[in-house]
Amino acid sequence: MQDNWEPKIIAFVCNWCTYAGADLAGTSRFKYASNVRIIKTPCSGRIDPMFLVHTLEKGADGVMISGCHPNDCHYNEGNFNARRKYMVMRALLTQLGIDMERITISWCSASEGIKFANLVNEVTEKIKKLGPYKDIVQLNKSER
Ligand code: FES
Repeated sequence: MQDNWEPKIIAFVCNWCTYAGADLAGTSRFKYASNVRIIKTPCSGRIDPMFLVHTLEKGADGVMISGCHPNDCHYNEGNFNARRKYMVMRALLTQLGIDMERITISWCSASEGIKFANLVNEVTEKIKKLGPYKDIVQLNKSER
């Protein structure tokens, strides 16, 4: 691992809560790691498990999923669906050899800018400790 290696983390966030929370973190000038790239989705329930697989496959070292707190989803139960999908996906992704430590799910409201900033810092530190992600495909390519 290079000394100056920095993890690439993709955050899939819902438009109504976490994205607004991230915006608040920025406008409040809270300091947080610059390793996260945000992808806004209409609702956390829209996040397909394959998004996570493709994200890691394309070079991300970690993935975050975040949406409105339970019972605050603008589509009523999207975050409950996201949580159910996450539980099923844990088993499937583990079977595929994906380390679930690299995937973080959380709830963050529009008023929780500081929570978003702290979450980004925590996830960044966790992924730094885990090191660069090398999926099975990348490992096979490097062995050729
Ligand atoms: Fe935020 Fe559904 S709109 S989780």
